[in-house]
Amino acid sequence: MDRKISVIQYFRVRNIYLVGFMGAGKSSVGAALAARRGHRFIDLDERLRERFEASILEIFAVHGEGGFRTAETDELAHCADEQGVVVATGGGTFCIGANREIICGSKGVSVYLDLPWKELDRRLAVDNRGRPKYDNAEQARRLYEERQPEYRHADVVIALEGSEDPDEVADKVLEALQARSSHRFRSEGGEV
Ligand code: S3P
Repeated sequence: MDRKISVIQYFRVRNIYLVGFMGAGKSSVGAALAARRGHRFIDLDERLRERFEASILEIFAVHGEGGFRTAETDELAHCADEQGVVVATGGGTFCIGANREIICGSKGVSVYLDLPWKELDRRLAVDNRGRPKYDNAEQARRLYEERQPEYRHADVVIALEGSEDPDEVADKVLEALQARSSHRFRSEGGEV
């Protein structure tokens, strides 16, 4: 089996989970990535909005963060039942051990979109409505720092500046995944 076949198999079988802080562009990059591969795209927050027929803010207001997180884990488990999908997670999803286990246990590949705080701060300053985990820049920065070690559990870390458009980021993700799948192909005797 040559390298190209191993990479194709990798995408057919494995789900790709984009993780990272609010404002990192998980949804737009996820859509671009899925379009490039001809795969289905799932936005986890969108699944939750459909499930509750409510906005994320309303879900937090009515069910509390606990209710939101329980449903989030449940929807994530549904995603893990599927094959070859690209999933944009919410900013807190990957910070919960049980969620990481679902992703890892289902042989999903997690990809952290790692943007500098300065860029996230700039984005969130103009786009924080509807985000219950954002109160102000200071609080959001603390949350970002607290979450860094969790995000770094991801299989692949894509260091970004924030100036890249979603297609460029999708290309970087694909390159990183190709490098990873060829490495695994070599080290695991053909299994990707
Ligand atoms: C959250 C991020 C949101 C959404 C919810 C909780 C978080 O997703 O899941 O408001 O805990 O950071 P985005 O990262 O898409 O904003």
